[in-house]
Amino acid sequence: MRTNTTLVINSKGGSGKTTVTTNLASYFATKRVPTAVMDYDPQGSTLEWLKQRPSLAPRIHGANAAVQKTGLRSIGMHVPEGTRQLVIDGPAGASGLLLQEMVARSHAILVPVQPSAIDIHATANFVRDLLLIGRVRGRNIRLAVVANRVRRSTPVYQPLERFLKSLGLPFLTRLADSEVFVQAAESGLGIFELDPASCVAEREQFMPIVEWADPDSRGDSKVVTLSRPSWASGRT
Ligand SMILES: Nc1ncnc2c1ncn2[C@@H]1O[C@H](COP(=O)(O)OP(=O)(O)OP(=O)(O)O)[C@@H](O)[C@H]1O
Ligand SMILES: [Mg+2]
Repeated sequence: MRTNTTLVINSKGGSGKTTVTTNLASYFATKRVPTAVMDYDPQGSTLEWLKQRPSLAPRIHGANAAVQKTGLRSIGMHVPEGTRQLVIDGPAGASGLLLQEMVARSHAILVPVQPSAIDIHATANFVRDLLLIGRVRGRNIRLAVVANRVRRSTPVYQPLERFLKSLGLPFLTRLADSEVFVQAAESGLGIFELDPASCVAEREQFMPIVEWADPDSRGDSKVVTLSRPSWASGRT
């Protein structure tokens, strides 16, 4: 069976790439799907998250694809055979050949964006670049945008929504600005591995991302394990 690869990227720093990557990978892992993350970011935030992951949590393989100081790649770029879901954490500011390389590996691209006029403007330009430089359409790669760190329902996304609509691209969901994402990040977990009572709304908001990234998982939303896994007890 092929590896389904989802690239999470935005040229804008701090938009939520690592947050979406780690939560998506952790969701697949909790479903016992062989899952890997690939970190293209020299900051290595996703690989750092993986180091914090409890040893009994469902395993996620970490691959390091960041360009090293030597200009070369790490030998740890390999993804194990049999990986069903690969989630790639892209670096801020990626362009040119590196962007093309990441896009060429992917079946779907998720672009998280924060609710500020500057971020929205930068994201619209980035989506344009993806379509042109990344030749996303020519390669039949799906692309969608996710609003992240939304505090309340504001009309701030309207220009972006109009822009996406004009391109026929979906605006998938709005993730709240919520402490549970920070908690999960600190403990090497995802929101689907925290105490469900603490993150019902966040899980609901995240499910459209799962269903979009892996169309085969549609319907799984009904069977999301709402109980707290035994190995997570005492950690959240
Ligand atoms: N929905 C959210 N609610 C609360 N905090 C969030 C949320 N999304 C992201 N954060 C926090 O915002 C910060 C930036 O998020 P994240 O690291 O995911 O962005 P990034 O796009 O990967 O950044 P970079 O460009 O530096 O790689 C982190 O501290 C993260 O925990
Ligand atoms: Mg990051």
